[in-house]
Amino acid sequence: MKVAIIGATGAVGREMVEDLADSSITGIELSLFASPRSAGQRIHFQEQNLAVKPFSMEALKGFDFILMSAGGAFSKEYAKGLAAQGAYVIDNSSAWRMEDTVPLIVPEVNGDLLKHLKSPGIIANPNCSTIQMVIALNPLHKAFGLRLVQVASYQSVSGTGQKGMMELAGQVEKRLKFQDIEPVVYAQPIAFNLLPAIDILDSEGHCLEEIKMIKETRRIMSLSSEFAIFATTVRVPTYNCHGEAITVQLEKSVTRDDLLNALGTSSTIALDSGLDYVELPTPHIVTSSRKVHVSRVRVAFGQKRSSWAQFWNIADNLKIGAATNAVKILETLINYR
Ligand code: A2P
Repeated sequence: MKVAIIGATGAVGREMVEDLADSSITGIELSLFASPRSAGQRIHFQEQNLAVKPFSMEALKGFDFILMSAGGAFSKEYAKGLAAQGAYVIDNSSAWRMEDTVPLIVPEVNGDLLKHLKSPGIIANPNCSTIQMVIALNPLHKAFGLRLVQVASYQSVSGTGQKGMMELAGQVEKRLKFQDIEPVVYAQPIAFNLLPAIDILDSEGHCLEEIKMIKETRRIMSLSSEFAIFATTVRVPTYNCHGEAITVQLEKSVTRDDLLNALGTSSTIALDSGLDYVELPTPHIVTSSRKVHVSRVRVAFGQKRSSWAQFWNIADNLKIGAATNAVKILETLINYR
């Protein structure tokens, strides 16, 4: 089985290599691609030290599966052509996520849609903060029915790729030396700061990241286009992992134990049901984990039973939010073939 990763030298691409190596998929003949700048770089995969090759349509002929994380513009330009060459293209960008003909997949939630995929084409990997949110919402929706979702996100700079991480590191160093900062990747300094919108604002005041979370969540969970989701997305100066403070209104009135039992049914959720402040999952703990870490589970203050519930949801955005989900899509596709 011939598999390619395009964007293999990037923040997500490197995690894809690692996740593929640790996956249950056997018999992979892997090739790695990036821009000509990276040609010849070596990346470890299983027992091999693979050389990164420069991308060209010609070089990508004959592959069964392509995992792609080279940005939206690149995907717009090449994904369709690569699928026409006969490959299943699992695309990590936002380029195709809202196309009716392109499945938008989180295997734990709607992976069964891949059963009906009869021929090669594009499969979209959702937005990072959306993936970790729907994995946590899904068992609650199944058990109690969701009526409303409200989320405030705390998103790390690795969500912007390697350039975001470099910008944070460079700015921290400069700030500690009392030097001036000139933002390049973000509109304002990210070091020792908070940016209260991710990506550009629309004419109604919503930022692009919020719109992605709202629309993609509705699509993946088969919720109506009117389903109430309120999102505020914030960029924070952490390297990796996105945190989400989530409030839901349910169709039923539930206790804290009911919530814990429902969340405990998902094998992708690492549930911290304890009340020890010291043990709570943070980016330091969660980095490199392939689980969605749910903690701080509670119902409305002062009530034993309520239809309103809250929890803290944190996951490695490069893994759960990107590479791990893409590799799970690949595993699911292979299992259905
Ligand atoms: P390169 O490292 O050679 O620039 P990130 O999201 O961390 O910024 O990573 C983006 C990934 O997409 C990198 O692997 C980058 O390769 C790759 N990439 C960007 N532009 C192209 C291109 N035109 N062709 C192939 N790979 C590309």
